[in-house]
Amino acid sequence: MKKGKKKFHLAQFLVHGPTYHSIAMWRHPRTDWPDDSWRRPELYQHIAKVCERGLLDMVFFADLNFISDSFKGSLDPALRYATQVPEHDPIPLLAMVSAVTSRIGVGATFSTSYHLPFYAARLWATIDHLTGGRAAWNVVTSLNQNQAANHGQAELDPSELRYEKAHEFIEVCQQLWNSWDEDAVVMDRQNAIFADPSKVRRIEYEGRFYSSRGPLNVVRSPQNGPALIQAGTSPKGMDLAAKYADAVFAINPLAETSAVYYADLKERVAAHGRNPDHCAVLFGAQPIIGRSEAEALEKQDEHNSLVPIEGGMALLSGHLNFDLSNLPPDAKMMDRTEPELQRSRRVYRKDDGESRTLEEVAQRHGESVGLPQFVGTPESVADQLEAFFDEVGGDGFMISPIYCPGAIEEFVDLVVPELQRRGRFRTAYTGTTQRDHLRQTD
Ligand SMILES: Cc1cc2nc3c(=O)[nH]c(=O)nc-3n(C[C@H](O)[C@H](O)[C@H](O)COP(=O)(O)O)c2cc1C
Repeated sequence: MKKGKKKFHLAQFLVHGPTYHSIAMWRHPRTDWPDDSWRRPELYQHIAKVCERGLLDMVFFADLNFISDSFKGSLDPALRYATQVPEHDPIPLLAMVSAVTSRIGVGATFSTSYHLPFYAARLWATIDHLTGGRAAWNVVTSLNQNQAANHGQAELDPSELRYEKAHEFIEVCQQLWNSWDEDAVVMDRQNAIFADPSKVRRIEYEGRFYSSRGPLNVVRSPQNGPALIQAGTSPKGMDLAAKYADAVFAINPLAETSAVYYADLKERVAAHGRNPDHCAVLFGAQPIIGRSEAEALEKQDEHNSLVPIEGGMALLSGHLNFDLSNLPPDAKMMDRTEPELQRSRRVYRKDDGESRTLEEVAQRHGESVGLPQFVGTPESVADQLEAFFDEVGGDGFMISPIYCPGAIEEFVDLVVPELQRRGRFRTAYTGTTQRDHLRQTD
């Protein structure tokens, strides 16, 4: 057993829907759920229990509140190929998965662009109470024109403006969470004092975009609001993460470029006067596990061949807010200069430094949204995760399955014990809250 090496953090990526990063998942022969399972709580409750058995930091639900017509100006490909469509609201599920677990963190995405901060502060403080301090909010600013249109906005705000609003949004939420002191509730039955009025105050926030009078009508929650996650990749997104986030979710297939991203983010965290260890970077990973190397490679081929290229194009067009049907399939993506195409640059480069073509990028997008596939026996997958982790510097991985729930069970039952044997993953939770798990080092 290797001793003294930094341990991983592990989170399980989920969506309240039939497809995750793999758009083939819903029709993969090993996705052996009844057709309506993905709409029912039992599937997610089962997964959360499996992940808690594996001592993972959290189960995490992504969320997109639109059906994309970005590809060819039509909803047809998104609906036909289930390109992260449909997506039911994940927030109610947090309460349902936390009810059948006791330690694992429960996280979900919630956009700052189409809600008011008071509602978000109240919602997330409530979830933090209901989960006993296990809540995590992935703060996103949204990315597609259809989201703006669904919420009554003619145009998607430019990225910079969305982030300026997000800063203020979180600021209001934090002030609302702080509007109740920790010891405000006294519950003095004898003297008929529920809360000490001197320990609850208005916030009187007047900002550029938002105002709120406060106080919140939710008492201070176990983590004083949820743990915060961020997933933006632009410098503005990284700055938002650096200022507030307890964890960052990043997609970066190459260890070399991941290391650059990791160092950059940690520097930004330090520049905000925060401890860089208090913002854990989790890199997306899609494990494909077999009893032998040959079986794993066969599983990879089988899975990847189930991805329709037009589905990959539609999914990528939606994520980029750009109609890729206007480009030739053999376009070299690293040469493209359109501003919308720059956000995914990190997945355009092959290992040898050459550019992928549009068709290659779209295919990979449908397979894994650019997450690297770690293929092999449990020992070999653990080797590959360790090698990536050691080259990049840490802090862990967001694991995404190719079929469900079997691939999650395999990872927990076969790879997690291997990582524990190598001293690279915890053998017990030492804390009780989401933030405790993200900061646990032993
Ligand atoms: C790994 C990753 C996961 C994301 N997950 C979501 C999500 O679940 N829902 C969403 O609306 N946006 C999601 N986003 C979008 C970002 O939060 C952000 O709004 C978008 O990337 C635009 O900001 P950027 O230019 O800083 O990347 C994700 C982005 C990345 C990189």
